[in-house]
Amino acid sequence: MDHDLTVNGEQCRVECSDTTPLLWVLRDALGLTGTRFGCGVGSCGACTVWIDGQPTHSCDTPVWSAAGHHVTTVEGLTDAGPHPVQESIIAMQAGQCGYCLSGIVMRSAALVDDARSQGRPLTAPEVREALDGHLCRCGAHNRIVAAVIEASEA
Ligand code: FES
Ligand code: FES
Repeated sequence: MDHDLTVNGEQCRVECSDTTPLLWVLRDALGLTGTRFGCGVGSCGACTVWIDGQPTHSCDTPVWSAAGHHVTTVEGLTDAGPHPVQESIIAMQAGQCGYCLSGIVMRSAALVDDARSQGRPLTAPEVREALDGHLCRCGAHNRIVAAVIEASEA
């Protein structure tokens, strides 16, 4: 069956079953491999993308439910250059292997954008709560939290 999606601002049509996870459509059909597969059951956060601006696990989102919505992946997060979260993560060398980072970037970017629109920096408890569902296998969590706070202050 055909499914019409808008991904990173581009219209696309993919042929697959209704229940195919959005993650596989992004990675296998569209070649957007920045979004990672971790657990496949909504427990690790590695596959997080935005659907209509809301961070969402793509591994347990069937493609039919994304049809007609705007999907944003890490490849399409900004129109021009890195997002402040990405800049902070790089500047503070917050990542290690980077496997978790695209999901964390997508969650954190939404959080930082919201805080900046309110004209206030994020607190550590806020960031820790938001990232609670994101597992970093390298244990870089503390550096990542610091980088997200820094991005909100920029
Ligand atoms: S791969 Fe989706 S939450 Fe782990
Ligand atoms: S940096 Fe390796 S999993 Fe997070």
